[in-house]
Amino acid sequence: MRSIQLGDKTFELSITSTEIQKAIYRMADEMDRDLKDKNPLMICILNGSFMFAADVMKKFTTPCQVSFVKLASYQGTQTTGQVKELIGLTEDIVGRTVVLLEDIVDTGVTIDNLVKQLNGMGPREVKVATLLFKPDACKRDVTLDYVGLSIPNEFIVGYGLDYNGYGRNLPDIYSLVK
Ligand code: IMP
Ligand code: MG
Repeated sequence: MRSIQLGDKTFELSITSTEIQKAIYRMADEMDRDLKDKNPLMICILNGSFMFAADVMKKFTTPCQVSFVKLASYQGTQTTGQVKELIGLTEDIVGRTVVLLEDIVDTGVTIDNLVKQLNGMGPREVKVATLLFKPDACKRDVTLDYVGLSIPNEFIVGYGLDYNGYGRNLPDIYSLVK
């Protein structure tokens, strides 16, 4: 099994880029079916979601707008449990269908807080599309409308996900070797 080193930690290959792309095609199809006539505003949650958002948007054929927000809740391999304020949303979302594009839902704190913040801004609906989901880590009752892959409760890097800022550029996903 291919392994890599990032700083003090070793990671081994867990999800290949082929598996990732297969999950993304399926998600884009499901989203096209649901969102066809809804003029959705797609929001990529930076930093981690940049690769997922780019790939899923290339497969999504529904006319839409794409925007970006930034938040962060992680330090090293541990969630701080606190989500920083939503930065950068300049669009008026009143009456809009908003779709959040997230790399991973872990404890669910980030997405739960963001969905609540956005729901307070008068949208028609807020949907969530996440490439990865850790069901065993999730502590919040969040509705995930589109899920790429459910994964075990392990720390992973690659395909946008980082360890102290490193590993985001890897096309495959690797899990931490303990
Ligand atoms: P949550 O708030 O615990 O659901 O975590 C959300 C954010 O933490 C995600 O959007 C990721 O950016 C980051 N995150 C969660 N799990 C991992 C992981 O295994 N590796 C790297 N980043 C992660
Ligand atoms: Mg993220």
